[in-house]
Amino acid sequence: MSKADWFVDARFGLFIHWGLYAIPAKGEWTYARDAWTPGEYESLMNKFNPVDFDPAKWAKLAKAAGMKYVVFTTRHHDGFCMFDSHYVDYKITNTPYGKDVTRLFVDAFRAEGMRIGFYHSLPDWTHPGWSDQESPEYIQRKEMHEVKPEDRIAYLDLLNNHVEQLMTEYGKIDLLFLDYTSQYKAHEDYYDRERLLSTIYKHQPDILVDDRLSYYKEDVRDFDYYTPEICVPNQPQKVKGKEVVWETCCTMNDHWGYCNTDFNYKPLCTLTGGLMGCVARNGNLLLNIGPDEKGNFPEMSIKRLEELAEWYAAHGEAVVGAGNSAYTPPFAGCYTQKGNDLYLYLLQQPMGDVILPELKGKIEEITLLRTGESVGIVNDWGFELLLESEQRIRPSMAVAGDVLKIRLRSN
Ligand code: GLC
Repeated sequence: MSKADWFVDARFGLFIHWGLYAIPAKGEWTYARDAWTPGEYESLMNKFNPVDFDPAKWAKLAKAAGMKYVVFTTRHHDGFCMFDSHYVDYKITNTPYGKDVTRLFVDAFRAEGMRIGFYHSLPDWTHPGWSDQESPEYIQRKEMHEVKPEDRIAYLDLLNNHVEQLMTEYGKIDLLFLDYTSQYKAHEDYYDRERLLSTIYKHQPDILVDDRLSYYKEDVRDFDYYTPEICVPNQPQKVKGKEVVWETCCTMNDHWGYCNTDFNYKPLCTLTGGLMGCVARNGNLLLNIGPDEKGNFPEMSIKRLEELAEWYAAHGEAVVGAGNSAYTPPFAGCYTQKGNDLYLYLLQQPMGDVILPELKGKIEEITLLRTGESVGIVNDWGFELLLESEQRIRPSMAVAGDVLKIRLRSN
Protein backbone atom coordinates (compact mmCIF):
# COMPACT_ATOMS: atom_id res chain seq x y z
CA MET A 1 0.00 0.00 0.00
CA SER A 2 1.23 3.45 -0.86
CA LYS A 3 -0.48 6.79 -0.51
CA ALA A 4 -0.36 7.11 -4.31
CA ASP A 5 -2.43 3.94 -4.91
CA TRP A 6 -5.71 5.78 -5.52
CA PHE A 7 -3.96 8.10 -7.96
CA VAL A 8 -2.29 5.33 -9.94
CA ASP A 9 -5.60 3.49 -10.07
CA ALA A 10 -7.54 6.54 -11.21
CA ARG A 11 -5.45 7.34 -14.30
CA PHE A 12 -7.62 10.24 -15.45
CA GLY A 13 -8.22 13.70 -13.98
CA LEU A 14 -9.58 17.11 -14.88
CA PHE A 15 -7.43 20.23 -14.80
CA ILE A 16 -9.16 23.59 -14.55
CA HIS A 17 -7.43 26.88 -15.34
CA TRP A 18 -9.72 29.65 -14.24
CA GLY A 19 -9.04 33.15 -13.06
CA LEU A 20 -9.24 36.83 -14.07
CA TYR A 21 -7.59 35.95 -17.36
CA ALA A 22 -10.91 34.44 -18.47
CA ILE A 23 -12.16 38.02 -19.01
CA PRO A 24 -9.66 39.18 -21.69
CA ALA A 25 -9.92 35.60 -22.99
CA LYS A 26 -6.41 35.26 -24.39
CA GLY A 27 -5.06 32.54 -22.13
CA GLU A 28 -3.50 32.73 -18.67
CA TRP A 29 -0.26 34.37 -19.82
CA THR A 30 -1.96 37.54 -21.10
CA TYR A 31 -0.79 39.58 -18.09
CA ALA A 32 2.82 38.93 -19.06
CA ARG A 33 2.54 38.89 -22.82
CA ASP A 34 0.11 41.66 -23.71
CA ALA A 35 0.49 45.38 -23.09
CA TRP A 36 -1.51 46.27 -19.97
CA THR A 37 -1.24 49.72 -18.41
CA PRO A 38 -0.31 49.63 -14.68
CA GLY A 39 -3.22 48.38 -12.61
CA GLU A 40 -5.38 47.71 -15.66
CA TYR A 41 -5.26 43.93 -15.43
CA GLU A 42 -5.72 43.93 -11.65
CA SER A 43 -8.83 46.09 -12.02
CA LEU A 44 -10.48 43.28 -13.99
CA MET A 45 -11.41 41.98 -10.57
CA ASN A 46 -14.04 44.73 -10.38
CA LYS A 47 -15.75 43.06 -13.33
CA PHE A 48 -15.38 39.40 -12.40
CA ASN A 49 -18.87 38.04 -11.93
CA PRO A 50 -19.20 34.43 -13.08
CA VAL A 51 -22.94 34.20 -12.59
CA ASP A 52 -23.16 30.93 -14.51
CA PHE A 53 -20.64 29.15 -12.27
CA ASP A 54 -22.21 25.80 -11.42
CA PRO A 55 -19.51 23.44 -10.17
CA ALA A 56 -22.00 20.62 -9.62
CA LYS A 57 -22.55 20.58 -13.38
CA TRP A 58 -18.78 20.49 -14.00
CA ALA A 59 -18.34 17.67 -11.51
CA LYS A 60 -21.06 15.57 -13.14
CA LEU A 61 -19.59 16.04 -16.62
CA ALA A 62 -16.10 15.15 -15.40
CA LYS A 63 -17.26 12.11 -13.48
CA ALA A 64 -19.20 10.74 -16.44
CA ALA A 65 -16.10 11.20 -18.61
CA GLY A 66 -14.23 8.84 -16.29
CA MET A 67 -12.23 11.45 -14.44
CA LYS A 68 -11.59 10.54 -10.83
CA TYR A 69 -9.93 13.71 -9.57
CA VAL A 70 -9.71 17.38 -10.32
CA VAL A 71 -7.01 20.02 -10.02
CA PHE A 72 -8.17 23.61 -9.70
CA THR A 73 -6.13 26.82 -10.04
CA THR A 74 -6.35 28.47 -6.63
CA ARG A 75 -3.89 31.09 -7.89
CA HIS A 76 -2.03 31.37 -11.17
CA HIS A 77 1.07 33.44 -11.99
CA ASP A 78 -1.05 36.63 -12.13
CA GLY A 79 -1.31 36.41 -8.34
CA PHE A 80 -5.11 36.63 -8.23
CA CYS A 81 -6.52 34.39 -5.51
CA MET A 82 -9.52 32.29 -6.46
CA PHE A 83 -9.96 31.59 -2.73
CA ASP A 84 -10.67 33.86 0.23
CA SER A 85 -7.05 34.72 1.05
CA HIS A 86 -6.42 36.03 4.57
CA TYR A 87 -3.37 37.89 3.31
CA VAL A 88 -4.23 39.87 0.15
CA ASP A 89 -7.19 41.86 -1.14
CA TYR A 90 -6.60 40.77 -4.70
CA LYS A 91 -9.04 37.87 -4.45
CA ILE A 92 -12.33 36.43 -5.60
CA THR A 93 -14.28 37.44 -2.50
CA ASN A 94 -13.62 41.11 -3.35
CA THR A 95 -15.15 40.82 -6.83
CA PRO A 96 -18.81 41.52 -7.65
CA TYR A 97 -19.29 37.73 -7.41
CA GLY A 98 -18.09 37.80 -3.83
CA LYS A 99 -18.10 34.06 -3.13
CA ASP A 100 -15.15 31.77 -2.47
CA VAL A 101 -15.26 29.76 -5.69
CA THR A 102 -12.59 27.37 -4.41
CA ARG A 103 -14.88 26.34 -1.58
CA LEU A 104 -17.91 25.90 -3.85
CA PHE A 105 -15.78 23.97 -6.25
CA VAL A 106 -14.34 21.65 -3.58
CA ASP A 107 -17.78 20.94 -2.12
CA ALA A 108 -19.31 20.16 -5.51
CA PHE A 109 -16.58 17.79 -6.67
CA ARG A 110 -16.40 16.03 -3.31
CA ALA A 111 -20.13 15.48 -3.49
CA GLU A 112 -19.54 13.50 -6.70
CA GLY A 113 -16.90 11.40 -4.94
CA MET A 114 -13.98 12.97 -6.75
CA ARG A 115 -10.56 13.52 -5.21
CA ILE A 116 -9.52 17.14 -4.81
CA GLY A 117 -6.33 18.75 -6.06
CA PHE A 118 -5.14 22.34 -5.82
CA TYR A 119 -2.92 24.04 -8.34
CA HIS A 120 -0.95 26.91 -6.82
CA SER A 121 1.55 29.05 -8.66
CA LEU A 122 5.01 29.50 -7.21
CA PRO A 123 5.64 32.79 -9.04
CA ASP A 124 3.50 35.85 -8.47
CA TRP A 125 3.93 38.41 -11.24
CA THR A 126 2.42 41.17 -9.10
CA HIS A 127 4.76 40.80 -6.12
CA PRO A 128 7.96 42.88 -5.79
CA GLY A 129 9.61 39.94 -4.05
CA TRP A 130 9.61 37.86 -7.23
CA SER A 131 11.43 38.41 -10.50
CA ASP A 132 12.95 36.51 -13.40
CA GLN A 133 13.20 36.55 -17.19
CA GLU A 134 9.65 35.25 -17.55
CA SER A 135 8.20 38.25 -15.75
CA PRO A 136 5.88 40.69 -17.53
CA GLU A 137 8.49 43.48 -17.28
CA TYR A 138 11.15 41.31 -18.87
CA ILE A 139 8.94 39.86 -21.57
CA GLN A 140 7.60 43.29 -22.52
CA ARG A 141 10.57 45.64 -21.88
CA LYS A 142 13.62 43.47 -21.15
CA GLU A 143 13.76 44.95 -17.64
CA MET A 144 14.21 43.21 -14.31
CA HIS A 145 13.72 45.02 -11.01
CA GLU A 146 16.05 44.29 -8.16
CA VAL A 147 14.35 42.28 -5.42
CA LYS A 148 14.90 43.83 -1.97
CA PRO A 149 15.68 41.30 0.78
CA GLU A 150 12.62 42.33 2.82
CA ASP A 151 10.34 41.88 -0.22
CA ARG A 152 11.82 38.48 -0.82
CA ILE A 153 11.06 37.44 2.75
CA ALA A 154 7.53 38.80 2.43
CA TYR A 155 7.12 36.88 -0.80
CA LEU A 156 8.17 33.55 0.67
CA ASP A 157 6.02 34.16 3.75
CA LEU A 158 3.00 34.87 1.57
CA LEU A 159 3.54 31.72 -0.47
CA ASN A 160 3.90 29.64 2.65
CA ASN A 161 0.87 31.28 4.30
CA HIS A 162 -1.31 30.77 1.27
CA VAL A 163 -0.34 27.14 0.99
CA GLU A 164 -0.98 26.70 4.71
CA GLN A 165 -4.42 28.27 4.40
CA LEU A 166 -5.27 25.98 1.50
CA MET A 167 -4.05 22.97 3.45
CA THR A 168 -6.09 23.79 6.56
CA GLU A 169 -9.42 25.32 5.51
CA TYR A 170 -10.78 23.05 2.77
CA GLY A 171 -10.80 19.63 4.39
CA LYS A 172 -8.77 16.76 3.03
CA ILE A 173 -6.78 17.76 -0.04
CA ASP A 174 -5.52 14.86 -2.09
CA LEU A 175 -3.12 16.54 -4.47
CA LEU A 176 -1.04 19.70 -4.65
CA PHE A 177 0.22 20.91 -8.03
CA LEU A 178 2.77 23.61 -7.27
CA ASP A 179 3.67 25.14 -10.60
CA TYR A 180 6.58 26.69 -12.29
CA THR A 181 8.59 25.15 -15.06
CA SER A 182 10.96 27.97 -15.95
CA GLN A 183 14.61 27.21 -16.55
CA TYR A 184 15.61 30.49 -14.89
CA LYS A 185 15.55 29.49 -11.24
CA ALA A 186 16.78 25.98 -11.88
CA HIS A 187 20.11 26.65 -10.17
CA GLU A 188 18.73 27.83 -6.85
CA ASP A 189 16.19 26.84 -4.24
CA TYR A 190 14.16 29.96 -4.99
CA TYR A 191 10.95 28.87 -3.32
CA ASP A 192 12.37 27.46 -0.08
CA ARG A 193 11.34 23.96 -0.93
CA GLU A 194 11.72 22.20 2.41
CA ARG A 195 9.81 24.89 4.30
CA LEU A 196 6.85 24.61 1.94
CA LEU A 197 6.89 20.84 1.99
CA SER A 198 6.99 20.67 5.76
CA THR A 199 4.00 23.04 5.98
CA ILE A 200 2.10 20.90 3.49
CA TYR A 201 2.80 17.50 5.04
CA LYS A 202 2.22 18.77 8.57
CA HIS A 203 -1.45 19.41 7.73
CA GLN A 204 -2.03 16.87 4.95
CA PRO A 205 0.21 13.86 5.56
CA ASP A 206 -1.41 11.80 2.79
CA ILE A 207 -1.33 14.46 0.12
CA LEU A 208 0.58 13.92 -3.13
CA VAL A 209 2.85 16.82 -4.07
CA ASP A 210 4.17 17.24 -7.61
CA ASP A 211 7.79 17.68 -8.66
CA ARG A 212 7.81 21.26 -9.85
CA LEU A 213 9.77 22.50 -6.86
CA SER A 214 12.53 20.29 -8.21
CA TYR A 215 13.36 22.75 -10.94
CA TYR A 216 16.04 23.42 -8.36
CA LYS A 217 18.34 20.93 -10.03
CA GLU A 218 21.37 21.07 -7.72
CA ASP A 219 20.00 18.41 -5.48
CA VAL A 220 17.30 16.19 -6.91
CA ARG A 221 14.73 15.34 -4.29
CA ASP A 222 12.10 12.61 -4.36
CA PHE A 223 8.59 13.86 -5.04
CA ASP A 224 5.24 12.10 -4.78
CA TYR A 225 4.59 12.37 -8.50
CA TYR A 226 6.19 13.79 -11.61
CA THR A 227 4.63 16.00 -14.23
CA PRO A 228 5.65 15.94 -17.87
CA GLU A 229 3.51 18.35 -19.87
CA ILE A 230 1.70 18.44 -23.24
CA CYS A 231 3.09 15.10 -24.40
CA VAL A 232 2.74 11.37 -23.96
CA PRO A 233 6.11 9.95 -22.90
CA ASN A 234 7.49 6.92 -24.71
CA GLN A 235 8.05 4.74 -21.66
CA PRO A 236 7.35 4.47 -17.93
CA GLN A 237 9.11 7.43 -16.31
CA LYS A 238 12.20 6.96 -14.17
CA VAL A 239 14.06 9.22 -11.79
CA LYS A 240 17.47 8.18 -10.48
CA GLY A 241 16.93 4.81 -12.17
CA LYS A 242 13.67 4.09 -10.31
CA GLU A 243 10.22 4.05 -11.85
CA VAL A 244 8.09 6.92 -10.54
CA VAL A 245 4.43 7.87 -10.37
CA TRP A 246 3.64 10.38 -13.11
CA GLU A 247 0.91 12.39 -14.78
CA THR A 248 1.07 14.40 -17.97
CA CYS A 249 -1.15 17.47 -18.24
CA CYS A 250 -2.54 18.38 -21.65
CA THR A 251 -4.86 20.96 -23.13
CA MET A 252 -7.94 20.12 -25.24
CA ASN A 253 -7.13 22.99 -27.61
CA ASP A 254 -3.99 25.19 -27.59
CA HIS A 255 -4.53 27.12 -24.34
CA TRP A 256 -4.87 26.41 -20.63
CA GLY A 257 -6.83 29.51 -19.71
CA TYR A 258 -9.90 30.46 -21.76
CA CYS A 259 -9.13 31.84 -25.22
CA ASN A 260 -12.09 32.94 -27.30
CA THR A 261 -10.30 32.58 -30.64
CA ASP A 262 -8.90 29.10 -30.10
CA PHE A 263 -11.11 26.46 -31.69
CA ASN A 264 -8.30 24.06 -32.40
CA TYR A 265 -9.76 21.21 -30.36
CA LYS A 266 -8.12 17.83 -30.55
CA PRO A 267 -10.34 15.09 -31.94
CA LEU A 268 -11.81 12.56 -29.54
CA CYS A 269 -9.39 9.89 -30.78
CA THR A 270 -6.42 12.01 -29.78
CA LEU A 271 -7.83 12.28 -26.27
CA THR A 272 -8.73 8.61 -25.85
CA GLY A 273 -5.46 7.56 -27.51
CA GLY A 274 -3.53 9.96 -25.31
CA LEU A 275 -5.20 8.58 -22.21
CA MET A 276 -4.51 4.97 -23.20
CA GLY A 277 -0.96 5.93 -24.17
CA CYS A 278 -0.38 7.24 -20.64
CA VAL A 279 -1.87 4.17 -18.99
CA ALA A 280 0.26 1.98 -21.27
CA ARG A 281 3.31 3.68 -19.74
CA ASN A 282 2.03 3.56 -16.16
CA GLY A 283 1.01 7.20 -16.14
CA ASN A 284 -2.02 9.46 -15.72
CA LEU A 285 -3.60 12.06 -17.97
CA LEU A 286 -4.75 15.39 -16.52
CA LEU A 287 -6.91 16.96 -19.21
CA ASN A 288 -7.51 20.70 -19.07
CA ILE A 289 -10.51 22.96 -19.50
CA GLY A 290 -10.46 26.78 -19.32
CA PRO A 291 -13.89 28.09 -18.28
CA ASP A 292 -15.00 31.51 -19.56
CA GLU A 293 -15.58 34.68 -17.55
CA LYS A 294 -19.18 33.78 -16.76
CA GLY A 295 -18.17 30.38 -15.42
CA ASN A 296 -19.11 28.22 -18.39
CA PHE A 297 -17.05 25.45 -19.90
CA PRO A 298 -16.55 26.26 -23.60
CA GLU A 299 -19.06 24.41 -25.76
CA MET A 300 -16.39 22.32 -27.48
CA SER A 301 -14.97 21.22 -24.12
CA ILE A 302 -18.41 20.06 -23.06
CA LYS A 303 -18.81 18.21 -26.33
CA ARG A 304 -15.49 16.44 -25.80
CA LEU A 305 -16.42 15.52 -22.23
CA GLU A 306 -19.68 14.05 -23.44
CA GLU A 307 -17.92 12.07 -26.14
CA LEU A 308 -15.37 10.88 -23.60
CA ALA A 309 -18.22 9.77 -21.35
CA GLU A 310 -19.63 7.64 -24.15
CA TRP A 311 -16.22 6.13 -24.87
CA TYR A 312 -15.49 5.61 -21.20
CA ALA A 313 -18.78 3.83 -20.51
CA ALA A 314 -17.63 0.96 -22.75
CA HIS A 315 -13.87 1.21 -22.24
CA GLY A 316 -13.29 2.38 -18.68
CA GLU A 317 -12.06 -1.06 -17.62
CA ALA A 318 -9.06 -0.62 -19.93
CA VAL A 319 -8.11 2.51 -17.97
CA VAL A 320 -8.94 2.20 -14.27
CA GLY A 321 -6.45 0.08 -12.38
CA ALA A 322 -4.66 -0.82 -15.61
CA GLY A 323 -1.00 -0.32 -16.41
CA ASN A 324 1.66 -1.23 -18.91
CA SER A 325 2.13 -4.58 -20.57
CA ALA A 326 5.29 -6.49 -21.37
CA TYR A 327 3.78 -7.58 -24.71
CA THR A 328 4.64 -5.75 -27.93
CA PRO A 329 1.54 -4.16 -29.48
CA PRO A 330 0.73 -4.62 -33.19
CA PHE A 331 0.92 -1.86 -35.81
CA ALA A 332 -1.11 1.22 -34.84
CA GLY A 333 -2.05 -0.22 -31.48
CA CYS A 334 -1.21 0.24 -27.86
CA TYR A 335 -1.64 -2.11 -24.91
CA THR A 336 -2.75 -1.64 -21.36
CA GLN A 337 -3.00 -4.63 -19.06
CA LYS A 338 -4.80 -5.68 -15.90
CA GLY A 339 -4.05 -9.18 -14.67
CA ASN A 340 -4.78 -11.63 -17.48
CA ASP A 341 -6.60 -9.06 -19.57
CA LEU A 342 -4.79 -7.22 -22.30
CA TYR A 343 -6.50 -4.18 -23.79
CA LEU A 344 -5.57 -3.32 -27.33
CA TYR A 345 -6.38 0.29 -28.21
CA LEU A 346 -6.66 0.82 -31.97
CA LEU A 347 -5.19 4.10 -33.11
CA GLN A 348 -6.85 3.69 -36.49
CA GLN A 349 -9.41 1.47 -38.14
CA PRO A 350 -7.47 -1.69 -39.06
CA MET A 351 -6.65 -2.30 -42.74
CA GLY A 352 -8.18 -5.73 -42.20
CA ASP A 353 -6.77 -8.45 -40.01
CA VAL A 354 -4.48 -7.52 -37.16
CA ILE A 355 -1.33 -9.49 -36.40
CA LEU A 356 -0.60 -9.76 -32.70
CA PRO A 357 3.07 -10.30 -31.85
CA GLU A 358 4.03 -12.85 -29.19
CA LEU A 359 0.50 -14.10 -28.50
CA LYS A 360 0.27 -17.37 -30.45
CA GLY A 361 -1.26 -20.01 -28.23
CA LYS A 362 -1.79 -17.58 -25.37
CA ILE A 363 -5.27 -16.23 -26.12
CA GLU A 364 -8.45 -17.50 -24.53
CA GLU A 365 -10.89 -15.07 -26.14
CA ILE A 366 -11.11 -11.60 -27.66
CA THR A 367 -13.98 -9.15 -27.33
CA LEU A 368 -14.67 -5.82 -29.00
CA LEU A 369 -15.54 -3.74 -25.95
CA ARG A 370 -17.79 -1.23 -27.71
CA THR A 371 -20.25 -3.90 -28.88
CA GLY A 372 -19.42 -6.92 -26.77
CA GLU A 373 -18.91 -8.95 -29.98
CA SER A 374 -16.39 -11.72 -30.03
CA VAL A 375 -13.42 -11.24 -32.37
CA GLY A 376 -12.30 -14.06 -34.66
CA ILE A 377 -8.95 -15.77 -34.25
CA VAL A 378 -7.64 -16.73 -37.69
CA ASN A 379 -5.63 -19.95 -37.82
CA ASP A 380 -6.55 -21.40 -41.20
CA TRP A 381 -5.42 -18.69 -43.56
CA GLY A 382 -2.70 -16.09 -44.14
CA PHE A 383 -0.16 -17.58 -41.81
CA GLU A 384 2.63 -18.36 -44.28
CA LEU A 385 4.71 -15.29 -43.53
CA LEU A 386 3.83 -14.95 -39.85
CA LEU A 387 6.41 -15.51 -37.17
CA GLU A 388 5.67 -18.60 -35.15
CA SER A 389 4.80 -16.46 -32.17
CA GLU A 390 2.36 -14.20 -34.07
CA GLN A 391 -1.41 -14.57 -34.00
CA ARG A 392 -3.69 -13.26 -36.72
CA ILE A 393 -7.12 -11.96 -35.66
CA ARG A 394 -10.08 -10.43 -37.52
CA PRO A 395 -11.76 -7.49 -35.73
CA SER A 396 -14.09 -6.78 -38.67
CA MET A 397 -16.29 -4.21 -36.92
CA ALA A 398 -13.48 -2.29 -35.26
CA VAL A 399 -12.92 1.42 -35.85
CA ALA A 400 -10.32 3.92 -34.61
CA GLY A 401 -10.57 4.43 -30.85
CA ASP A 402 -11.94 0.93 -30.21
CA VAL A 403 -10.46 -1.42 -27.67
CA LEU A 404 -10.13 -5.17 -28.02
CA LYS A 405 -10.11 -7.03 -24.76
CA ILE A 406 -7.78 -9.98 -25.08
CA ARG A 407 -8.21 -12.50 -22.29
CA LEU A 408 -4.98 -14.43 -21.90
CA ARG A 409 -4.87 -18.05 -20.84
CA SER A 410 -4.00 -18.26 -17.21
CA ASN A 411 -1.43 -21.05 -17.41
C1 GLC B 1 2.61 25.76 -18.56
C2 GLC B 1 1.99 27.15 -18.63
C3 GLC B 1 1.23 27.46 -17.36
C4 GLC B 1 0.28 26.33 -17.00
C5 GLC B 1 1.07 25.04 -16.89
C6 GLC B 1 0.23 23.84 -16.55
O1 GLC B 1 3.75 25.72 -17.76
O2 GLC B 1 2.97 28.11 -18.85
O3 GLC B 1 0.55 28.65 -17.50
O4 GLC B 1 -0.38 26.61 -15.83
O5 GLC B 1 1.70 24.82 -18.11
O6 GLC B 1 1.06 22.75 -16.34
